[in-house]
Amino acid sequence: MSAFKELVFSGVQPTGNLHLGNYLGAIKKFVALQENNDCIYCVVDLHSLTAQLVHEDLKDQTRAITAAFLASGIDPRKHIVFNQSRVMQHAELAWIFNCVARIGWMNRMTQFKDKAGKDRENASLGLLAYPSLMAADILVYRATHVPVGEDQKQHLELTRDIAQKFNNDFSDRIRELGLGVAMNVGDETVHGFFPITEPVIGGPAARIMSLRDGSKKMSKSDPSDLSRINLTDDADTISKKIKKAKTDPDALPSELDGLAKRPEAENLVGIYAGLAETSKEAVLREFGGQQFSAFKPALADLAVEKLAPIADEMRRIMADTTHVDNVLKDGGQRAGALAEQTMRSVRDIIGLLQD
Ligand code: AMP
Ligand code: TRP
Repeated sequence: MSAFKELVFSGVQPTGNLHLGNYLGAIKKFVALQENNDCIYCVVDLHSLTAQLVHEDLKDQTRAITAAFLASGIDPRKHIVFNQSRVMQHAELAWIFNCVARIGWMNRMTQFKDKAGKDRENASLGLLAYPSLMAADILVYRATHVPVGEDQKQHLELTRDIAQKFNNDFSDRIRELGLGVAMNVGDETVHGFFPITEPVIGGPAARIMSLRDGSKKMSKSDPSDLSRINLTDDADTISKKIKKAKTDPDALPSELDGLAKRPEAENLVGIYAGLAETSKEAVLREFGGQQFSAFKPALADLAVEKLAPIADEMRRIMADTTHVDNVLKDGGQRAGALAEQTMRSVRDIIGLLQD
């Protein structure tokens, strides 16, 4: 039982090209969830400052992610699409969460450790506090479900920890003000102001790996463009990258067990399953026993069939900057009204003076 209204929230950073991992791990799920849920999809431009403060083309990158959302089929009239920096309540709640969360929690984040590298003292404070802003993005709408790729799991666990600590630390105030909502956490029913958000992770494509190295995830920051399929790649480029993808010399197995210790093979099967909206098992039933020389062309055809229309639509949408900007402006106004409702309660709970 949860008295929270079901609401889906997710975000994507406007940095670099969107790739197949972003599409299968996140955006395709955004599209599926919009059928039966209210959804808010956000281009998290403030988060992108943690990787690179000075951007030449932040505005165009923000528009490009928006275009990818729309080209993939997200409906900005039924749902909300906007860029994070327009709704200042995200930054306001992030500050409060900076005071709720502990430095130790942030220090344990593997993404922070990876991105900060060896010289951790010299990383920006923003990079350390990144998960606090992410928690604020979600909780400023009291969102209940968050679709993301596998790599964001730890950040979502931290979001749950922050919500729980806020609910506990302010439990008396929340009760006095009548702002508590009952929810189930595990077997327990608890009351709190913030929901304990559920991650929506999984399926065959929750973690797509590099086409050049099955032990590394497909990423915007990989120096080799052959490691990823970009959503903007044309049909020839998509086919070429799949043909060049690293594999092993064996035929595909007929059962899932046969993919153990074959990360490149498993990745290509997962990509096929994600694109075809089926399972890895079903792909192996169809292709088990076949060589990569037969499987790769089938995968390339499928990838082109599914991705090329999105790339074309993205280009068409990007040509009309005014339309894209209007979608973000309208989404920002609607999101801002919802976020302000939450923040009025948060300010009351904390005891900040407001009118
Ligand atoms: P980012 O580009 O880092 O903002 O990621 C946007 C979304 O794509 C997040 O939900 C990520 O978890 C997801 N994502 C990024 N890389 C991958 C990948 N290689 N496989 C699956 N999902 C991914
Ligand atoms: N950290 C996420 C990523 O890099 C992006 C993100 C920011 C996000 N805020 C969010 C995802 C809120 C889901 C919900 O992929």
